[in-house]
Amino acid sequence: MISKDTINRIFETARIEEVVGEFVSLKKRGVNLLGRCPFHNEKTPSFTVSPAKGIYKCFGCGKAGNSVNFIMEHEHYTYPEALRYLAKKYNIEVDEDFNKTEDIENENAKESLYIISSFAAKYFHENLLNNDEGKAIGLTYFRERGFTDATIQKFQLGYSLTEWGSFTDEALKNGYKIEFLEKTGLTIVNESKKQYDRFRGRVMFPIHNLSGRVIGFGGRIIKTDPKSPKYVNSPQSDIYNKSTILYGAYQAKKAIINLNTCYLVEGYTDVISLHQSGVENVVASSGTSLTIEQIRLIGRYSKNITVLYDADPAGIKASLRGIDLILEEGLNVKVVLFPEGEDPDSYSKKVSATELKEYLTKNAVDFILFKTNLLLEDTKGDPVAKATLIKDIIATIAKIPDPIIRSTYIKECSSLMEVSETVLIAELNKLRRKVKDKEDYDSSIVREDEKPHVPQPQVITHSSEPQEKDIIRLLINYGAMELVLMNPDFQNDDVDIEIAKEEYLRISVAQFIADEINNNKDFLRFENQLYEIILEEFNTNLSENIIPNEQYFLQHVNPDIAQLTADLVTLPYELSENWKTQHKIDVVTEDMLMMEAVISAINNLKMKKVVALIDEKFKRLNDVHTEEERNTLLEEVMQLINLKTVISEALGIVVVR
Ligand code: GTP
Ligand code: MN
Repeated sequence: MISKDTINRIFETARIEEVVGEFVSLKKRGVNLLGRCPFHNEKTPSFTVSPAKGIYKCFGCGKAGNSVNFIMEHEHYTYPEALRYLAKKYNIEVDEDFNKTEDIENENAKESLYIISSFAAKYFHENLLNNDEGKAIGLTYFRERGFTDATIQKFQLGYSLTEWGSFTDEALKNGYKIEFLEKTGLTIVNESKKQYDRFRGRVMFPIHNLSGRVIGFGGRIIKTDPKSPKYVNSPQSDIYNKSTILYGAYQAKKAIINLNTCYLVEGYTDVISLHQSGVENVVASSGTSLTIEQIRLIGRYSKNITVLYDADPAGIKASLRGIDLILEEGLNVKVVLFPEGEDPDSYSKKVSATELKEYLTKNAVDFILFKTNLLLEDTKGDPVAKATLIKDIIATIAKIPDPIIRSTYIKECSSLMEVSETVLIAELNKLRRKVKDKEDYDSSIVREDEKPHVPQPQVITHSSEPQEKDIIRLLINYGAMELVLMNPDFQNDDVDIEIAKEEYLRISVAQFIADEINNNKDFLRFENQLYEIILEEFNTNLSENIIPNEQYFLQHVNPDIAQLTADLVTLPYELSENWKTQHKIDVVTEDMLMMEAVISAINNLKMKKVVALIDEKFKRLNDVHTEEERNTLLEEVMQLINLKTVISEALGIVVVR
């Protein structure tokens, strides 16, 4: 973990105008700077940088944040990656917080594995280009497959010699320790302590992580041999985790972002051949089924995946399940089917680069419609098979988090399958309830390292998120502002003389809101986790008489909080003069408008919660069995409705019933 000191130094040093200025041309406009937003297309600039606040905000697309957020967003970096980027730019030494010396040793051991892998990649590449065997066998093989020198260079392709220990000997000679050679899997040490190379007589495909370091290899046999597998891959190691990487992701990253689509293929050679034909936004799952981590990795760069299939119906049907997983992550999936007997590699050799690109665009069809059509063919005239198909398709649609997209698919599939929308919706709702139960369960276990960027399915009907946000906005923007209230106990003989002495009470906006919410803790519990964290930080600080200000949150170690704050402090918002409502507390100063804003915000939240409670109790009425239970429940509902009326009056809303 990067130390708090280092993070603070980075925030102090990295001026927002310089950080953004490297990517966006900015012009001075008053106290701010203005430019064209790098996150969406616009003709007139609405991307604003505030050097005073240290933040950016686009009034077109709403993106906002501090320097670190900008680098995360623009370069698609994780939080630590963005911090390291800025540290490097400003020559700040990065201190790591290590709990134990063990951690340092682990880091050093990992570094050794990286260094050995990079050494191996160079060694194999050298063999391919300059060794007699390498040239005669490896290079000839790649040439026959039509790979150009530039392609061989770009993917650092190589060759491992047939001799048993050529790589291991060379590495030992260069001072690399056998312990680490074995850990990368490049060297195998057998029971009789004999050391030999894992890869022998194979062409080599190095696998890179996202920052371009070599972490493992795939080695392909030259001539088909029923006794040996076609590919041998590096085993899992401390630097190579198969389920979290995709072949080609490093080389494809920029193109995926620029074109906002990622092609997904099966093999190493498919990736390489497509690149050679100018299609660079492509990654391979390397023959295994996709994992959630791999899907999220793509999702960091684009929400659109197009799966490229060869026309083998059995293979396609086997992979359908895996694609549901992509939909579940909120990504859009399309499918391109290649002509009989062709895969992306062979097809790209057959046609020109232009024809290939045209084929990919013209033949991309929506996955769900593709699946429906594919399975529909097998159900002709068989009602049972058709019922199974409907269940299957609806199960896929139910995975999509966005309700609007779901309903569009229901419409389309209803006409494709000739089944009424009502039937489909009923089936969908049945499944969504199951999904929701599972989500409620999952979200009750929240881990610290939870990725906050995963789209959250919108299943809550009575969300109080906007009301919570409004309260957080007031806290961060006006927390320190002082409110002056009439003291209800002024000159009251029954109370403490000190309290009775004061005609007015002074209280900060933050304290007022915190008290109000803490006094109704269960009732007013925040749904949004981020807001909850911010509120808790107010509570902790207030107990030490500190009111955290916007700078505190803008430079928060949690990048999501910093980003949210940047958005909140730039909301075009003014305290409205029109709020003329009645309160139990007399407000006597010009802070009256502030007071009104605070009370309205709290009452709006209360209102939302009351309405949700009433609704919930009404629903429970269907499930009660005894008259007694029913009466108790009705009694509770009546009380809540009364409460609702009280809050409505405070808000100046006319209640009709
Ligand atoms: P070529 O046949 O040379 O075109 O290679 P390919 O990359 O197209 O391979 P293929 O389509 O047969 O398989 C797709 C991917 O599955 C490969 O890129 C490998 O990652 C993986 N794979 C294929 N065969 C094997 C094997 O025998 N063992 C292992 N571990 N992986 C394999
Ligand atoms: Mn192939």
